[in-house]
Amino acid sequence: MAAYDYETHDYDVVVVGAGGAGLRATLGMAEQGLRTACVTKVFPTRSHTVAAQGGIAASLSNMGPDNWQWHMYDTVKGSDWLGDTDAMEYLAREAPKAVYELEHYGVPFSRTEEGKIYQRPFGGHTTEFGEGPPVQRTCAAADRTGHAILHTLYGQSLKNKAEFYIEYFALDLIITDGRCTGVVAWKLDDGTMHVFNAKMVVLATGGYGRAYFSATSAHTCTGDGGGMVARAGLPLQDMEFVQFHPTGIYGSGCLITEGARGEGGYLTNSEGERFMERYAPTYKDLASRDVVSRCMTMEIREGRGVGEHKDHIHLHLNHLPPETLHERLPGISESARIFAGVDLTKEPIPVLPTVHYNMGGIPTNYWGEVLNPTPGNPDAIFPGLMAVGEAGCASVHGANRLGSNSLIDLVVFGRAAAIKAAEVVDPKLRNDPVNKPAVDAIFARFDAVRYADGRIPTAELRLEMQRTMQADAAVFRTDKTLAEGVEKMKVIAGKMGDLKVSDRSLTWNSDLMETLELGNLMPNALATVVAAEARKESRGAHAHEDYPNRDDENWRVHSLALVDGADVTLTTRPVHLDPLTKYEDGGIDLKKIAPKARVY
Ligand code: FUM
Repeated sequence: MAAYDYETHDYDVVVVGAGGAGLRATLGMAEQGLRTACVTKVFPTRSHTVAAQGGIAASLSNMGPDNWQWHMYDTVKGSDWLGDTDAMEYLAREAPKAVYELEHYGVPFSRTEEGKIYQRPFGGHTTEFGEGPPVQRTCAAADRTGHAILHTLYGQSLKNKAEFYIEYFALDLIITDGRCTGVVAWKLDDGTMHVFNAKMVVLATGGYGRAYFSATSAHTCTGDGGGMVARAGLPLQDMEFVQFHPTGIYGSGCLITEGARGEGGYLTNSEGERFMERYAPTYKDLASRDVVSRCMTMEIREGRGVGEHKDHIHLHLNHLPPETLHERLPGISESARIFAGVDLTKEPIPVLPTVHYNMGGIPTNYWGEVLNPTPGNPDAIFPGLMAVGEAGCASVHGANRLGSNSLIDLVVFGRAAAIKAAEVVDPKLRNDPVNKPAVDAIFARFDAVRYADGRIPTAELRLEMQRTMQADAAVFRTDKTLAEGVEKMKVIAGKMGDLKVSDRSLTWNSDLMETLELGNLMPNALATVVAAEARKESRGAHAHEDYPNRDDENWRVHSLALVDGADVTLTTRPVHLDPLTKYEDGGIDLKKIAPKARVY
């Protein structure tokens, strides 16, 4: 084994990841006087939040009546009754505050004539507890909302003296006597090693969309937090729920925002029919994402897809006034031209449901504290560790996330983590000394990957995993496809020990970096297919053709997956059914959010 020298950094809090959640947590921690470092593998404003287009949900009522209870109802229904009630209440209640904070930090939101924050309709967001018309709840900065938020939060974090370690790749968590005491990172440009010794580590590493062949996610979305947590012997939750966004550009997978349908766009099949009217007579193209993606897939399966191979769908925006396209959707006009060769003022955009979001992740409570459930205590906390954003699972999205509930999740729970950290982290205490044996074990794993001398190139195994996930853990699933998926993925995961890394240098070594990333993708992918195979019902994004109905009696539970190499052990955890606030004290009427058929 090579001997690795390292530099030690002592902080109160280390945040891993600099997307919307990571930056909001970093900013909140720094504002409260905690010595805070943010360690990120890409430059902060290149984090995947930059690609979030359509907006951020909050019941501001700028465009018409709205309130947090309606937002909560929509989130509960969107989740197909799998979200945790306390967390969903926290999200909906705190959302307006979190958006006004963003406004005051400087996010350049689009404006109404009166100068208020502009809000657009998004799928599954309604009025009157699903009985009224669609609501305009999604606050937007044109179609570059994530970009605007990232730039603002990065600037504010610097202003508040948070320290950034940019292009550092986190290798693993340091675990000392059952608590997290830091993280080890590799600096990608000069090859040096760094030990971040901390009282609290916050994982904000995003999703694992790149476990699939076609995803709207950046190539950096490799589930690094989930990988580290799995290696630490902690579980992943609800991994079977993978969201397909209805409108990825056919061929490239690049996102066309749901805001396009919010502004009046609609889908058609090869007969020119607006088919969503048939499936979701009330909300049509603005039904929830899982519903629209399934309907598109059914149209294609039944031979009504468009194009030479009848394998995609058309999204029309050409009827919209050019000023709407220019003002509200400038980014997608460019994406349609570059990635589909389409002038959207004249032609429809070819689109296809594309992997977009992971509802599952590292289980947490609504303060972002990571859970390590035990048989007697399903809400037991793993000390020293938090997870926020797409890496975490609070769980507010349950089995399906509503569009624009992601950006609000990032800032509400990034902020909540900072509030909690200020309570549990004492800046006056000195950090414990570095746990050297744990650090050595992390370097030993790194070394084993660096000197891997098997037969399979990383790119080959990654492609095998991506194709398997795409084929066998898809929009629609069956017992047969899932059983095959599990079998294939176990074989694929078993080949991790036979990888070949050709470049052993420590500087700018993409071969080594991608192999470490594959080591993170693999447990996420494996947990997804194994948990999907086990869940014998249909709920949200998990559409099981052999079990087409939701089964609340047996399956209104979170799944937990412990991954050890190619082995996965599944257990469950109860869904939180109690709200934060009783109805008598101003909370939601629980009768309004009781389970029922989910129709749009
Ligand atoms: O369609 C979109 O703009 C994506 C938003 C989201 O995933 O929340």
